[in-house]
Amino acid sequence: IVKDFGSSLLYMLRALFSESVSKLYPELSSTPVLITETQQIKFGDYQFNSSMSIAKKLEQNGQKISPQEVAREIVENLPKCDRIEKMEVAGPGFINIFLSKNWIAASIANIALKGIEIPVIEKRRVVVDFSSPNIAKQMHVGHLRSTIIGDSISRLLTYVGFDVLRLNHIGDWGTQFGMLIAHLQDCFPNFINEVPPVSDLQAFYKESKKRFDEDEAFKARAYQCVTKLQSFDPDFVKAWQIICDVSRKDFNQIYDRLDINIVERGESFYQKYMIDLVEELEQLGVLELDEGRKILRFGEEVPLTVVKSDGGFTYDTSDLAALKYRLYVDKADWIIYVVDAGQSLHFELIYAAGQKLGWYSPTEKRVELVSFGLVLGEDKKKFKTRSGDTVRLTDLLDEGVKRAEIKLQEKERDKVMISEELALARDAVAYGCVKYADLSQTRTQDYVFSFDRMLDDRGNTAVYLLYAFARIKSICRNSEVSEEDIQNYVNSLPDGILPLEHKSEFRLAKTILKFTDCILNTLDNFLFHQLCDYVYSLATTFHDFYNECYVIHKDLDEICRQFGMLQLDLSDADALSTACIYLADPHK
Ligand code: ARG
Repeated sequence: IVKDFGSSLLYMLRALFSESVSKLYPELSSTPVLITETQQIKFGDYQFNSSMSIAKKLEQNGQKISPQEVAREIVENLPKCDRIEKMEVAGPGFINIFLSKNWIAASIANIALKGIEIPVIEKRRVVVDFSSPNIAKQMHVGHLRSTIIGDSISRLLTYVGFDVLRLNHIGDWGTQFGMLIAHLQDCFPNFINEVPPVSDLQAFYKESKKRFDEDEAFKARAYQCVTKLQSFDPDFVKAWQIICDVSRKDFNQIYDRLDINIVERGESFYQKYMIDLVEELEQLGVLELDEGRKILRFGEEVPLTVVKSDGGFTYDTSDLAALKYRLYVDKADWIIYVVDAGQSLHFELIYAAGQKLGWYSPTEKRVELVSFGLVLGEDKKKFKTRSGDTVRLTDLLDEGVKRAEIKLQEKERDKVMISEELALARDAVAYGCVKYADLSQTRTQDYVFSFDRMLDDRGNTAVYLLYAFARIKSICRNSEVSEEDIQNYVNSLPDGILPLEHKSEFRLAKTILKFTDCILNTLDNFLFHQLCDYVYSLATTFHDFYNECYVIHKDLDEICRQFGMLQLDLSDADALSTACIYLADPHK
């Protein structure tokens, strides 16, 4: 619920037009209005496209009125708004909306003074469940996607002032720990006193799985180990901790490299809540017995397995307990699960069960899966190493770093930077590229992982954006304009209006002002590629501006010499802007 749109245009226009529509036609107040950005300047900046559908609905209700008439009435009833210069009803009933140049100029001046105003949104407590790899298994590219998207969601929600709890629901519980512990006891009998040197946990997992599948006595012992662990027998808990710590160290290295903040609260955390939950469900009499399992079934739906025939709990049980805990103890208003689309059914069933058990209602709380597609190799098949194994994320990041270093050497950056700077630049490029390559793809679709593409310095890539950013920073440095100079300049402007004379300067101003709408839109759909597209358009618009308008004195002096012009008096603002226009368009 947006309380103040800040410097939004699109969302604010939508709200304004909705207001006008519901005032005129109360029966249509819940129909969303369609406003889009126009492609051609002659149609204004935005276009309202709903007059036709409104006229049609009114006709169905027995009220005959032309779409053009609807458009005229909407315009007449629109609340006053300083952001709009004028409106024109066109064609079959479109409303072309032209933004106020003065408002744009004043808003930009205001941003120069105070920074961008963040829209004010009703605060929510949000749990974001992301990353969530499994102990003793490799963290794979799917977990990497979840990590990058989940981190971005958390950052965005924090940015708009929400209270965000970032949770790592790691797979650290379940029957596989029985065989791991039994194998640990055999390989390192003295593990209680001396930490065993298990470094390759994946190989260790494979060995124990082999024994589990082939050796009945080992299998029976593995089951006993699970029971001991689940009743928190100290020796077994110790063994479990040793195993978890090995994986944890690997995971944390990756989080450190990618600058990810996350709180570990794995499946094991919910053990006692799972016990309570099963008891509660028994008392409610909602559990059904099915071939020794206890299942939870509502109507025709696929059932959830709450207790296995051996008495153990499942992925379903831990997710049910976790949902309840997040709602009741964490008091979350909104829970977001960032998990691959392959698990959609599991989450649909969990959410449906939560609602049927009366834990929450979707009108009060939002519980949702933000899913994503697969990461594919360049052969369009699931991303794997040549030998068919899961790609280790550490190897993948190392490779990115290596390639980023080569890229910087190609650009001869190593000649102008000291080694510490070079290392920082290399890491910024490598990790920035890995993240951006993911975020700039449509989240819901599969995408092809390509180092070459992600490290390209042309097109919509992190390198291009880093380049734009570095260039802006360098202009700021070279111009030697202080915060105070900016404040003084803006405060001296008549009516606080920044002169935006050149067309590429004006275009840049409009692009900057789309930021707020971009934030609101990303909050709506978590489609970060749209945010990436926005940032990319900001960078290209900036580059156009930079190429066409000279923004620092040094450049201006230089160009004056080139054109054989007299030195300008740079303290004269008029002369300066005339020169800018001249230089941008020498024909004038
Ligand atoms: N550990 C799971 C996996 O690797 C993901 C867990 C996602 N979160 C959850 N609450 N189930 O597939």
